[in-house]
Amino acid sequence: MGPQSAAAVSLSDLADQHEHDLTDQLNTIVTNSVLFRLAKEGHVQMENGNALRAENPGKFMVMRDDPKLKKMPEKPTLIDFFTMRFFTAQHLLQSARLARIKGLPEKVVMACLLHDIGVIGFIRPDHGYWGEQLIAPYVDEEVSWAIRMHQSLRFFPDESVGYTYPDQYIKLFGEHYKPEPYIYAEYERARNHKWYMTSRMITVNDVYSFDPNVKCELEDFVDIIGRNWKQPKEGLGFDNSSSAHMWRTLMWPTRFL
Ligand SMILES: [Fe+2]
Ligand SMILES: [Fe+2]
Repeated sequence: MGPQSAAAVSLSDLADQHEHDLTDQLNTIVTNSVLFRLAKEGHVQMENGNALRAENPGKFMVMRDDPKLKKMPEKPTLIDFFTMRFFTAQHLLQSARLARIKGLPEKVVMACLLHDIGVIGFIRPDHGYWGEQLIAPYVDEEVSWAIRMHQSLRFFPDESVGYTYPDQYIKLFGEHYKPEPYIYAEYERARNHKWYMTSRMITVNDVYSFDPNVKCELEDFVDIIGRNWKQPKEGLGFDNSSSAHMWRTLMWPTRFL
């Protein structure tokens, strides 16, 4: 097959895909979870599937891909989620870059690389905990533990490693902000733990203000991901792990059930 016919095939494939996507959009009813509506509208409410079906004859509730979103591969990898579902990863990449430049152990670099995966991919509140659960089956326990605990450690200085309370938090939360009691309790547990310094290193390398002259690419960390991420052969979401459902929800966030 010559280059011209290859191009023609791929153009026709694209046209077919486009037509398929449009048909999907016309045939689907997309709803929002209670949590989404609660955050956006300020009250608890859930769409009624039967009513929506009656109002939209011939259409059905989304039970897989949402046509608005990029269709993910059948066996998605961490990189696929970074490129197709997560918000810009610059913050994570710059934090990991800093840890690598300092010559910190690869586990620390990996922890920095994933530390805010909860925020950039999922949800803001308690992002350390969501992040830990999401990745726990696929990384060394020290890495996921460190990500859980950075959520509380970042509020507490450690002069031994030059970490001070972030100015950014004073700007964001006001100078009188006090973390919740559970954050204090978690900090106490973390401080006495054998992996304390791994988590502390996340806070030390957490880049709050980006250097506009530094542009990191995910490719720069593919080797580290390869050595420190246990990619399931079935693909994320399909390996029956304790967080497979979370990956599926990221893949298909508007499924009716
Ligand atoms: Fe964080
Ligand atoms: Fe961060």
